[in-house]
Order: sequence, then structure tokens, then C-alpha cells
Amino acid sequence: MHTFIQQNRLISMDTKIIDGLALSKRIYDDLENRIKKLKNIGTTPGLAVILVGESSASQIYVKNKVKACERVGVLSKQENYPENITESELLNHIHRLNEDNKINGILVQLPLPKHIDTNKVIEAIDHNKDVDGFNVINAGLLMTGNPLFCPCTPYGIMQILKNEKINIRGSEVVVVGASNIVGKPIAMLMLKEGATVTICNSKTKNLELHTKRADIIIAAVGKPGIINGSMIKYGATLIDVGINRNSENKICGDIDFPSVKNIAGYITPVPGGVGPMTIAMLLTNTVESSERSIKTQ
Ligand code: GUN
Repeated sequence: MHTFIQQNRLISMDTKIIDGLALSKRIYDDLENRIKKLKNIGTTPGLAVILVGESSASQIYVKNKVKACERVGVLSKQENYPENITESELLNHIHRLNEDNKINGILVQLPLPKHIDTNKVIEAIDHNKDVDGFNVINAGLLMTGNPLFCPCTPYGIMQILKNEKINIRGSEVVVVGASNIVGKPIAMLMLKEGATVTICNSKTKNLELHTKRADIIIAAVGKPGIINGSMIKYGATLIDVGINRNSENKICGDIDFPSVKNIAGYITPVPGGVGPMTIAMLLTNTVESSERSIKTQ
């Protein structure tokens, strides 16, 4: 076990490695039961997944999302379109899916080809089917503290923290990375739960000045090793959202795992931490959407 000195005390710590895969399996079990109840009243939740182009990374992400649907009994509708599809053709497909009452969730895999305006596409999705939680209505509802769909990765992070009973109220949370997909929405969710939140970005001076006082650090930058052991407080909770490849071509996160181990209280590993939770929350949003549509019928 490692030891170190903080405030003149010699300290060592068993860092708990959070098993996101195990938690995601429990969420899938719960979803299966909810889906069975929906099927008993004649409804099957449906998710449309749109993939444009041939990106191998996007193909893998989409395949995993469709596989997860099959696992729990969500009807999945994958639509693949060529790289050269026009913006208006793509918008027409979204309008059609907005009107399709078998479809409760619509996901357009990002990034889109450069000739397509991503914002226009996201805004075309009916906000009641926007299971990614990316459009401005859903971003605004989250901002004003009344979310309809939370973006899946932040939603998964909140489930991880709740499952581990990690205190959020009154805690110092430092988010590293200010994206619309992770950084900004997780900051809003943390604020809603009573945390004091700092959002750092690529221009932040002295990142460690912020991270050193954090009870919880969310690293979502896409830079291996941007957080290391010298930048964190004893016992801090570290949530690693990064998915990178290191010099040996192995998948790694944004946090330098060996140097934080035995200093951090908790850490989500990469792979096997936040990643599996993202898809579990996508399906949760789809099932919630289906349950909601029954209530409003
Ligand atoms: N590309 C990378 N992450 C995501 C995501 O969460 N949703 C969508 N639609 N595309 C992505």
C-alpha cells in the first residue's frame, strides 16, 4: 500500500474501484421488469438509431446501443444513411420518426458529416423523444432544474454516485471539460443536488489549484493523464469520462490511474466505469419516454 504525507500526516488509503458494469447490469434487470409491464398492456418501447456514414467508431457505438436494446426487450430501429445524404433528406427522416408512435426515442449518432448542420438536426428531434437530452428545450429544462431527459453520461454518473452513497450536498465538485454532452449537464445536475460546482476548461490557469480542493472530480476532456496523484485531495472521488488510447494502444481514461490509486477514495476505471452506464441510461430514458407516453394518452 502507498503512503504519503498531507498536512504533516502520513496517510495511505484503499481506493475503491467502482464497478460500472455491475451497476449497469442491475439497471438492465430493472428495465427488463419495467418493459415486461409495458408489454403486458400492449406497448413496447422503441428506439430509433440513425447512423450517417461509415465511421468505424460510430458503427461500434451504434452496434452496442442496438445490442443493449435487444438485451432488455426495447424495439430498436437502426437506420443507416450514406455519408452524402443531404441535410434536408436527413431532416425528413427525423420528421417521419417524430410522427411514428412506435418510436419513443430518437438518437442521431454524432459526429455528422461536415456538410450537415448538427444543431439543426438535434433541434429537429421532438424534445419528447430526445433521449440523448441534447436539444435546447431539454438543455433548458435541465438548466432550470426540471429535466425531462438528462444526457446519458451525466445521468449515469449521478447513478454511480447515488449507488455508492457518495455525499453531493455541500461538496466541492470540479468538472474538467465544458462540453454540452458531459461537462455542462453534469455541472447542472450537481448544482441541483446542492454541490458547489467549478467548471474548468482548456484555458483554466493552474488546474491543480481547483482539483486539489475537490471532493469530487469529473474528468471529461479526452486527454490521458490530465489529472494525476499530485493534483487531488486525500479521499477524493474521481469520475473518469475519458476514452483514449495510450502509447501502447490500450484504452485509458483522462486520469493517471497508478498515481491516484491509494490517494483517491473512489475511482471509476476505464474501461468498465462510466462507459457501460451511458448505454444503460439511454435505455432508461427510452423506457421513461414510453411510460410517459402512456400517461399522456
Ligand atoms: N457520439 C459520441 N457520444 C455520443 C452520444 O452520447 N450520443 C450521440 N448521439 N452521439 C454520440
